[in-house]
Amino acid sequence: MQEKIEQLLQEIENLTASAREEVEQLRLRYLSKKGVLSALFEEFRTIPNEEKRVVGQLLNELKTRAGQKLEELKASFEEGGEEDRSCLDLTRPTSQVRLGARHPLSIVRNQITGIFARLGYSVAEGPEIENDWYNFSALNFPAEHPAKDMQDTYFIQQNPDILLRTHTSSVQIREMERLQPPIRKIFPGRVFRNEAISARAHCIFHQVEGLYVDKDVSFADLKQSLYFFARELFGAQTRIRLRPSFFPFTEPSGEVDISCNICGGEGCTICKYTGWVEILGCGMVDPQVLANCHIDPETYTGFAFGMGIERITMLKYQIRDLRLFFENDVRFLKQFTGAI
Ligand code: DAH
Repeated sequence: MQEKIEQLLQEIENLTASAREEVEQLRLRYLSKKGVLSALFEEFRTIPNEEKRVVGQLLNELKTRAGQKLEELKASFEEGGEEDRSCLDLTRPTSQVRLGARHPLSIVRNQITGIFARLGYSVAEGPEIENDWYNFSALNFPAEHPAKDMQDTYFIQQNPDILLRTHTSSVQIREMERLQPPIRKIFPGRVFRNEAISARAHCIFHQVEGLYVDKDVSFADLKQSLYFFARELFGAQTRIRLRPSFFPFTEPSGEVDISCNICGGEGCTICKYTGWVEILGCGMVDPQVLANCHIDPETYTGFAFGMGIERITMLKYQIRDLRLFFENDVRFLKQFTGAI
């Protein structure tokens, strides 16, 4: 019997299992009531008494070892067993988290709205699909104005009153219809024009419009506000100049140039050797436009301005091709990582 026990011990030491169910099979085989060990204990009863002490001890050791061995086999299939536990190694480096970058147009839009926020302007938005009144008529565009030409504007074919807005000036009208002065607001947004796509033009682009209407708003306020803006955005050395211009909704109208931020005014290809680059259109809100929005032009005056975000961004970051903004090439976009 001693020999039998030793053989069995060897057998149990060498047990392996390739699945949890196999361990259960082994348990039934060795440790259940009808198992191999129970049979041995039965046999134990029949041996001579003088052998019982030694054999009994061996038998008990065998039982203990069999129990341990089966527990070990079971544990290797348990969740959090040897192999699984390595997944919980908290000192392991994580997979790399890649941070995206804000789009350069968003960065510059935020800078522009941030500068005007410091002058007391709040932000508002208007719809991209507009009607003729907000985009043209209320802004004093005459019925036959060339900007309304089918070549310039995207109209909805079934209804020529509905169009994609060509500028953010439409939001001026929406806000003036809704509010009485004082109004001091900035309107960023997307605009659409039927343009051939090139390094300098696109059929979709972005503008920021500004509007300030109150009692006694003067051209001097306009000039000083835009001077402050230009220096904040392009640096304290920046100078501005105002050139007379024409827009149907402002009187007088002007265009603002800044001293070229690339050559500092010396002359280069960006400023075409003039030392100046144009950044925006502006003017005093035409009294007729105020009246169109039920604001009394005898009591109130105002100024407005509008700028293209692509153009400003190209100047600020020396980007030579406007199409880069729309191509989503990460080699371009990731250069702006970290900017806000
Ligand atoms: N809406 C004009 C454009 O898209 C820009 C502009 C000019 C806006 C003068 C203004 C302004 O508010 O006063 O070309």
